Amino acid sequence: MSTNVVAGIHPHGRLAGKNAIITGAAGGIGLETTILFLREGASVLMCDISEPALAKTLSKVMEMTTYVSGRVDTARCDVSNEEDVKACVEKVDEWGGVDVMFNNAGIMHGDDADATATPEKIWDLTMNINVKGVWFGSKHAVLSLRKHNKQRGSIINTASVVALVGSATPQLAYTASKGAVLALTRELAIVHAREGFRFNALCPAPLNTPLLQDWLGDDKEKRHRREVHFPMGRFGEAIEQAQAVVFLASDESTFVNATDFVVDGGMSKAYVTPEGAPTSAPQNLGK
Ligand SMILES: NC(=O)c1ccc[n+]([C@@H]2O[C@H](COP(=O)([O-])OP(=O)(O)OC[C@H]3O[C@@H](n4cnc5c(N)ncnc54)[C@H](O)[C@@H]3O)[C@@H](O)[C@H]2O)c1
Repeated sequence: MSTNVVAGIHPHGRLAGKNAIITGAAGGIGLETTILFLREGASVLMCDISEPALAKTLSKVMEMTTYVSGRVDTARCDVSNEEDVKACVEKVDEWGGVDVMFNNAGIMHGDDADATATPEKIWDLTMNINVKGVWFGSKHAVLSLRKHNKQRGSIINTASVVALVGSATPQLAYTASKGAVLALTRELAIVHAREGFRFNALCPAPLNTPLLQDWLGDDKEKRHRREVHFPMGRFGEAIEQAQAVVFLASDESTFVNATDFVVDGGMSKAYVTPEGAPTSAPQNLGK
């Protein structure tokens, strides 16, 4: 674990004073969210299974966040291991307790396929990270919120549009795992509503991040198979998800609870999509 406390000069922001844990922080959505959270005055513990990726990401974060008032730190964490998750939450307990938990780490394995071809070990691995990891993160966030007598907390769990619409390009374990994230988030939201702890699921469309892009590679046909279904004609960018996460984490969304918060450029509502040039995409900050 490395420590990096950023002394800043900008005390205000939409997340001022909030302590946040972001899992999968070294990836596309996690990095953009870390930068925006810090810019909005939060303190962030960046958690990821890959230590080298965390180190690289942290230096990008430092580059992009000159004026921050919070702390930023990193922790190696496998979200499917409860002790790892607990240790991250204990670290943030030292900062005054968790206010925001972004359970974002997830995998889509290359061997994930349809009902007949998906190996059982890939099913189990996917469920352990994508579902059990979200449960552990939610559980320890609730324990921290209670321990510090917090009246408010926001837990955001990353699902996917594949939890809402069927896909003929199957990754059955991934799809099932994201459906489980929606269901468990909804139930947690209702159970904890009167404690002031909100739970929302983020449902991103296919994105321009390593998770999907490494898998698609240069395969034009595979890409076209997807692009034709995007009303805006393009993959989403990580920063477009991160902007939504800032809203869900902030007190601007105090009455937003138990939602499947869809950030997909209209994909899951489309029948026949428009033709013509794709819309332009915003720039990610950490690229
Ligand atoms: N990229 C997409 O098209 C897309 C679409 C819908 C939903 N999502 C979801 O968004 C989330 C973030 O994805 P991304 O696009 O930023 O992907 P990414 O691959 O860029 O980042 C994922 C990060 O999670 C980390 N990770 C993997 N296993 C872990 C574990 N066991 N414990 C802790 N960290 C672990 C990886 O090291 C990586 O840094 C995932 O849950 C993913 O399923 C992505």
